[in-house]
Amino acid sequence: MVKNVPVVAVIALGALLVAAGAVRAVSADAAPPADAAKVSPLDLAKATPKGKLANPYRDTQADIVAQGEALFQRYTCSGCHGPAGGGALCPPVTNDIWVYGGDDDTLFRLIALGSAELQNQGYTRLGHESIVAPMPPFGAVVQSSDDLWKILAFIRAHYAGVPARKFGTPAAQH
Ligand code: HEC
Repeated sequence: MVKNVPVVAVIALGALLVAAGAVRAVSADAAPPADAAKVSPLDLAKATPKGKLANPYRDTQADIVAQGEALFQRYTCSGCHGPAGGGALCPPVTNDIWVYGGDDDTLFRLIALGSAELQNQGYTRLGHESIVAPMPPFGAVVQSSDDLWKILAFIRAHYAGVPARKFGTPAAQH
C-alpha cells in the first residue's frame, strides 16, 4: 500500500539514525555518569514515577538552548524533524499538535522509550499530525538525561504554536 511507504521509510531511517547517533555520541564525549543528570534517559524514565519528570532548564536560557540545538543535530533528531524541529519526513516538534501530550514528562518518555514502548505503557495518540509514524527509542543513545533536557529546552524555545498549548492541554495529559 502506498500509504505505508513513508512509515516504512521512517522506520528504516530510524534504525540508521539511531545507529549514527550512537556512534557520534560515543566519539563525542565519554564522561562517566556521576549524578542524576548523568543517568541515561532510559534509566531515568524507568526510575521516575509517571508525571514526575520535569525539565531543570528553561527555554529562556540562551546558553542551554544553544547546547540543546547542537545536541539535536548530534543525535540526528534533525534528520527526521528538520534542523530547527519544524518537521521534514517526520512531524514538527514545534507546533501545537502534541501526539501523546506536550508536558515535559510525556515528551521525555516518548523520546527515551520510542512510540512502541510508550504505547505498551498505555499511552495513546491523542493529537494527530499529518505524518503518522513511530518515533524510535533514543533513551540509550542520548548519553545523559541532562543532554535530553537541553534538547527539550531547545524544542521549547522554537515553539511556534498557540501560547496556551505550549506544554499541551491539561485535559490531554496522561
Ligand atoms: C526516524 C525518525 C525520527 C528520529 C531520528 C527522531 N524522531 Fe522524534 N518523532 C518521529 C516520529 C515519526 C514521531 C511521531 C511519533 C508518533 O506519532 O508515535 C516523533 C515524535 C517526536 C516528538 C513529539 C512530537 C509531537 O508532536 O508530539 C518529539 C518531541 C520528538 N519526536 C523529539 C525527537 C528528538 C529529541 C529526537 C532525537 C533525540 C528525535 N525525535 C528523533 C521520528 C523521529
